[in-house]
Amino acid sequence: MSGAWRAIPSAPEPGARICLEAEMTGPVHGCDLGGFPVLLVRSAGGLRAYVNACPHQHLPLDWRSSGILSPDGVSLRCSNHDARFDAATGEGTGGYGAGCALIQVPIEIRGGEVIVGGV
Ligand code: FES
Repeated sequence: MSGAWRAIPSAPEPGARICLEAEMTGPVHGCDLGGFPVLLVRSAGGLRAYVNACPHQHLPLDWRSSGILSPDGVSLRCSNHDARFDAATGEGTGGYGAGCALIQVPIEIRGGEVIVGGV
């Protein structure tokens, strides 16, 4: 995982609380940490966090719909123009996602809270 998320001006400090794990009522959960958009994804590869900005036009992947995870939990499909990404790694796999990737944010679970990792 790269540290690209830290280059975003609104990036939170490691240890910042994202949400309670119990607040995830579905496999995809968008959060805003003081202007830093986070997309939590519980997929076949486990729980991941990405900056919620599609590399195509920097729109939130779940802008038009939260139903962006494939039924088998393997692939994310941006709700705007159908860019596709590997849900476990963020690597682009098709459409406007080809050749690019989502920016992953490290996370940890502590006491039922999802927090920014790297502490
Ligand atoms: S903004 Fe995601 S495919 Fe266009």
